[in-house]
Amino acid sequence: MPDWDLLLTDARIATMRADAPDYGVIEDGVIAVADGEIAWIGPRAELPENTVGSTRSLGGRWVTPALIDCHTHLVFAGDRSGEFEERLRGASYEDIARAGGGIMSTVRATRDASADELYANALPRVQALAAEGVGTIEIKSGYGLNIESELKMLSVARQLGEATDVTIRTTLLAAHTVPPEFKDKADAYIDLICEELLPEVVAGKLADAVDAYCESIAFSPDQVARLFERATELGLPVKLHADQLSDGGGAALAAEFKALSADHLEYTSAAGVAAMADAGAVAVLLPGAFLTLGETQLPPLDALRSNNVPIAIATDCNPGTSPICSLRNSMMLAARLFRLTPEECLAGTTRVAAAALGFDDRGTLEAGKRADIAVWDVSHPRELAYWIGTPQLAELLLADSR
Ligand code: NIG
Ligand code: FE
Repeated sequence: MPDWDLLLTDARIATMRADAPDYGVIEDGVIAVADGEIAWIGPRAELPENTVGSTRSLGGRWVTPALIDCHTHLVFAGDRSGEFEERLRGASYEDIARAGGGIMSTVRATRDASADELYANALPRVQALAAEGVGTIEIKSGYGLNIESELKMLSVARQLGEATDVTIRTTLLAAHTVPPEFKDKADAYIDLICEELLPEVVAGKLADAVDAYCESIAFSPDQVARLFERATELGLPVKLHADQLSDGGGAALAAEFKALSADHLEYTSAAGVAAMADAGAVAVLLPGAFLTLGETQLPPLDALRSNNVPIAIATDCNPGTSPICSLRNSMMLAARLFRLTPEECLAGTTRVAAAALGFDDRGTLEAGKRADIAVWDVSHPRELAYWIGTPQLAELLLADSR
């Protein structure tokens, strides 16, 4: 006789299984949860007899995997609204960066902030994402750019994971831009990351992956390759901010290192997409940054689709290029700006986002997966990529709920 902790009944389930069409829908579904995992899922008519467990009806509501925001920079201090105004008056992101603003302006504020201040700034962002159904969030460092401040950022991100029910994945992005202390000595800064920072991060188990910004205003492919070699040696998977402002061969570089994902990709070539397909890398598209920068060059959507490169969507929440702390709104932007279907948007914030973080235990609703479940007041899951700023989460059930 199956004995389960909880039986969720009367659910319309969008399982988002890779092998099922149309959201993998199960009508009149039941989800049995035991020990934080989905023990059984299927139509009520097929539920094994004599099941034991407390039963809760979801009243015919739609249920999806909890959403996953697989690319954020949500630990930071200060804001860049002044630069936003400058860009509205015609300045470019690159010009502002070269003049010492951009990422460096957030670095100055973040270095000056205490860990407690960073935590207090970031917690409402995590809570805002959770309030719209997000159960897993990736957070990058990259506004410290020295050993002490990069470690501070990663520790704050870890602390956010401990203090909330949300799973936090952390990524070391020390190679975000060249700090002033290493002006014209970017190679020496990469050496510092490889020889001192990375070993310390690994010893403290502070990062789950390593990222870099491959761009003319940041690091060259050779410098990124050196960093990725070291990360790989130390057992950390890599991901890359690739081809955001120009085609620097970032996608192919990410593929060469079997990156979990290459992100942004507005200027990625057909060859870059083909390399990603061969390597099994996920394409993470960031419509908030596309919108905020007034970008007009679309990511290579046709090529991504025809090469079967899985597409994830994330907020890129950061004060410079993507001041957006809503994954739901990012889904809508991806649908509107990139013409992704609502089903692609939901796959991109569940199953594919899980893959972009190297998770195989979540992102779909199937037996054996974590019981990270979002319950919605919608009449169809396509609505999740349609409304803007409309709260529709009825409940977020997470395996780590306490
Ligand atoms: O994902 N492209 C580089 N990194 C961030 C922007 C960081 C910033 O401008 O503060 C991004 O867009
Ligand atoms: Fe980013």
